[in-house]
Amino acid sequence: MTSTLSDTEFGERDALAEILAFHLEAGVDVALGEEPVDRFTESAAEREAALARTARAPERPAQENPRESSRPAASMAPPAAARAPATPAAPDEAPPPPDLAAIEAREAAASAPDLDTLRALLERFDGCPLKHTATRLVFADGNPQARLMLVGEAPGRDEDIEGKPFVGRSGKLLDRMLAAIGIDRTNAYIANVVPWRPPGNRTPTPQETAICLPFIRRQIELANPDVLVCLGGPSAQTLLGIRDGITKARGRWSDYDTGSRVIPALATFHPAYLLRTPLGKRMAWRDMLAIEAKLAGLPPRP
Ligand code: URA
Repeated sequence: MTSTLSDTEFGERDALAEILAFHLEAGVDVALGEEPVDRFTESAAEREAALARTARAPERPAQENPRESSRPAASMAPPAAARAPATPAAPDEAPPPPDLAAIEAREAAASAPDLDTLRALLERFDGCPLKHTATRLVFADGNPQARLMLVGEAPGRDEDIEGKPFVGRSGKLLDRMLAAIGIDRTNAYIANVVPWRPPGNRTPTPQETAICLPFIRRQIELANPDVLVCLGGPSAQTLLGIRDGITKARGRWSDYDTGSRVIPALATFHPAYLLRTPLGKRMAWRDMLAIEAKLAGLPPRP
């Protein structure tokens, strides 16, 4: 087929392609809306509305979810793990204000008796705004029975497309690092603190992290690994309470209380950092050897 575009149209098309490429390079790869939205005003108004609803609501038994509405109570969720939708989900009602969302997250996560139910609850959870800009939930990859669990910060673009953590460039490097100590995704379990991709790969806000925290904590408890590895500073700060920067904190073992028992936990560099800073690989290699030695020293599983 011959092209019918004029020179001017060709020029316009190239200019548009350049603008698109520029946006992609700058990390702007999600179309959210035409008009800016003031989320601060919005969440203040939602908080008022939620408080008014709570004040008007008749008294209920203490164990009931205080925000129960058209959304079913989390503990009534079916256990079957639903396939994540391929397009961002539109909330059927305004998301709850962050403090109520964190309470709902705690209740929902605590009610999950196993990983499949936890995943199903996360699919239905509307409290984290990131769910509505991400393509799908990125719950976990690997073997949930593994003795080693690794937790990153949040999915990136490739993970958002595939629905699995660490499948992009940094995931490939992680696979190579693990392979160096004889580990692959059949004997490691991998997840993220935040299971939805932040738009443009920005850092999750403290509020988004706080809302997702009960879910990853419960995920760790249910997977019940013998060794936990935090990939990068944000994961280490969130899960291990480490205040030092990752350069100082990496390579140090600490205790992590899963809620059922205490396990050894190590912070190491995030593979995305190592892609930018190859010199860090020497230190990361030491951390890999420390993980290998820790796993080798564990008593056999009952
Ligand atoms: N970075 C993360 O922290 N997690 C992923 O899944 C991918 C990149």
